[in-house]
Amino acid sequence: INKSRVTVVGSGNWGSVAAKLIASNTLKLANFHDEVRMWVYEEVLPSGDKLSEENVKYLPGIKLGNNVVAVPDLEHAVRDANMLVFVTPHQFMEGICKRISGKIREDVEAISLIKGMEVKREGPCMISSLITEHLGVNCCVLMGANIANEIAVEKFSEATVGYKENREIAEKWVRLFNTPYFMVSAVQDVAGVELCGTLKNVVALAAGFVDGLEMGNNTKAAIMRIGLREMKAFSKLLFSSVKDSTFFESCGVADLITTCLGGRNRKCAEAFARNGGKRSFDELEAEMLQGQKLQGVSTAKEVYEVLSHRGWLELFPLFATVHEICIGSLPPTSIVEYSQS
Ligand code: NAD
Ligand code: 13P
Repeated sequence: INKSRVTVVGSGNWGSVAAKLIASNTLKLANFHDEVRMWVYEEVLPSGDKLSEENVKYLPGIKLGNNVVAVPDLEHAVRDANMLVFVTPHQFMEGICKRISGKIREDVEAISLIKGMEVKREGPCMISSLITEHLGVNCCVLMGANIANEIAVEKFSEATVGYKENREIAEKWVRLFNTPYFMVSAVQDVAGVELCGTLKNVVALAAGFVDGLEMGNNTKAAIMRIGLREMKAFSKLLFSSVKDSTFFESCGVADLITTCLGGRNRKCAEAFARNGGKRSFDELEAEMLQGQKLQGVSTAKEVYEVLSHRGWLELFPLFATVHEICIGSLPPTSIVEYSQS
């Protein structure tokens, strides 16, 4: 049989866990080569540890599997693979696509685990579309209530694969990721799944502000409800194909809940509000996340650009307020004053 070869592009906190999940399955599934290459953005680690055995910086204490091979050369990492899994912070993806364009196999299928988007002059561009445009490949997405450190220690969670047309490809991705502790299902709504994963990071910042201001659980729940409503309305305005049912999948309400309870965006936003907005997100990210990256602050800016460009600011008071708080035009307390709708 023609066995598939998988490469994971990215090796941060979630990237490393994704490689671990996949590598546990390629050993068991006959249609996949055992080896999983993982592109590692080269950084000087003081210890000299081998990242393929353990990612000492982004996922310390967890063995990824002997069949995960860390490859620092991006072109070398991707050139033999026919299944590419993209999982880097979203701001690096355009550069990565440009570097590998024309250097991958013709039969490549891609999947993006990346929560974020780019805003171009023509309008917003989801990361899966960026991949399709630059590389000329079909791209599914996988999103869900997936705090990486919990999955790393094999606590049960669920995830959603979004696909465009080809159910068979989606099922192949499901087989590659699914384990007894990571239950994956597929829905035909790539835009809905990806927008859920992207937009909930903006709501998580709002939830973090509420935590930092010690406003309590009712306020936080209210902010999450308003946020979910804006997520749905924004997604449907951008893509009329987005399905209501997607918001009830793991990628929707479940991811919103876990991120607003335990995510990095929430954590840094809490610290931001506690400091009355006097310390910037860049500073807090560097200090609190040790190299891991926040996606919510840039996503809030990107969403704001879309809203102002299309004249939709008044329709999305929570999204707009989060960005204005992040850039210091409004104080953190305005999260409840201006978000009501
Ligand atoms: P991360 O936050 O750990 O980011 C650090 C990674 O970025 C490291 O691999 C680092 O080497 C790399 N990096 C730094 N500078 C770079 C550069 N100039 N070019 C390329 N790479 C560079 O990453 P992550 O947690 O794996 O997140 C990746 C994506 O997955 C994000 O979109 C995130 O929203 C999403 N996600 C994360 C989690 C989670 O719990 N961590 C869960 C679900 C989804
Ligand atoms: P944070 O980036 O806020 O940690 O969210 C992680 C996540 O996407 C969980 O599904």
